[in-house]
Amino acid sequence: MPVYSFTLNGKTVSVEAPADMPLLWVLRDMLRVTGPKYGCGVGVCGACTSHLDGNAFRPCIQPVSGVAGHQVTTIEGLGEGLGGETLHPVQQAWIDEDVAQCGFCQPGQIMTAVAFLQQNPHPTVEAIDAAMSENVCRCGTYCRIRKAIQRAAR
Ligand code: FES
Repeated sequence: MPVYSFTLNGKTVSVEAPADMPLLWVLRDMLRVTGPKYGCGVGVCGACTSHLDGNAFRPCIQPVSGVAGHQVTTIEGLGEGLGGETLHPVQQAWIDEDVAQCGFCQPGQIMTAVAFLQQNPHPTVEAIDAAMSENVCRCGTYCRIRKAIQRAAR
């Protein structure tokens, strides 16, 4: 079986896996990185959203072979410090606005928001809603997500 190496949250990792295995399987089942959640498995819910070379992507529809040599960041790698113990400003805004309810979709929501704010540091409400429209939250935390993004953008 082929071996693929990539950078995961700042560290080089190598995995032996079929070329077409979804990266989400590799992250959760092989590397035990469980921040990216399995929601739909077909790229439509956003629960698994992480960053590939700084851009939001969906590991459930990304074959592991395609990330070889690239940088993958999950929610675990978003903060600073050795263990990610210093929260990213967007994570802090999520706490300040008490966003999470069941919490399942929130890692994906935050990773989408971080990538969005990097491109749009001072977004309008309409731009926030458009950017977040493909991340589903069954608890309906959308208003608090919007407020947290506005807070992080201040
Ligand atoms: Fe990846 Fe739904 S689990 S988008």
